[in-house]
Amino acid sequence: MLLIDPAHNTERENYKILIGSIIPRPIAFVTSVSSEGVLNGAPFSFFNVVSANPPMISLSIQRSSGRQKDTVRNILESKQFVVHIVDEKNVEMINKTAASLPPDQSEIELADLTPVESVKISVPGVKEAKMRMECVFEHSLELGGGETPGCDLIIGKVVQFHIENDIYENGRIDPRGLGAVSRLAGNYYAKIGDIFEIKRPK
Ligand SMILES: Cc1cc2nc3c(=O)[nH]c(=O)nc-3n(C[C@H](O)[C@H](O)[C@H](O)COP(=O)(O)O)c2cc1C
Repeated sequence: MLLIDPAHNTERENYKILIGSIIPRPIAFVTSVSSEGVLNGAPFSFFNVVSANPPMISLSIQRSSGRQKDTVRNILESKQFVVHIVDEKNVEMINKTAASLPPDQSEIELADLTPVESVKISVPGVKEAKMRMECVFEHSLELGGGETPGCDLIIGKVVQFHIENDIYENGRIDPRGLGAVSRLAGNYYAKIGDIFEIKRPK
């Protein structure tokens, strides 16, 4: 076994080990609105469930040279955002939104995504997702160093689910119907592969 001390690695070396080993990662496509009213969209794979009661999700958004990304600034200002599950149908379009645009330009327009009004919050979602969640800001943490935090961990509470009819049956999401796509390292993605069952011991 190789023994690697992250303290002796560069940030990029640690990044490659983390994103190459913590796989597959689900991808959230997040819409948020700036104080000037620009609808912003970006994908994030440092994304997961935090709690079911109440329903909460997390996003970890890296800073570049200490600067918060537009998504973080928008969420901290408006306290609202929408999380969409990235799937086989929308992944190519959503990849386009990862371009670093200035805050006054909308990635949603760039990627030809279709904004749709939300039910409980004022931030719109987009139509091109089989599943989306309206979220309100719950908590944030600046992590990774006192004066120069490396990332912002955002926790959001889900206040509304939107689920396409034909992927939802008996209270369960059909994983094949959803067709979620996950992120590996580099430019690689994965689809849901073989599904198998293991019964939990009592
Ligand atoms: C599939 C995918 C997953 C990504 N995951 C993350 C992530 O978890 N955290 C992060 O900070 N950036 C991530 N990025 C990069 C952001 O999407 C990118 O920096 C984007 O421009 C940020 O947009 P914003 O400045 O409008 O918030 C990811 C990009 C792609 C294509």
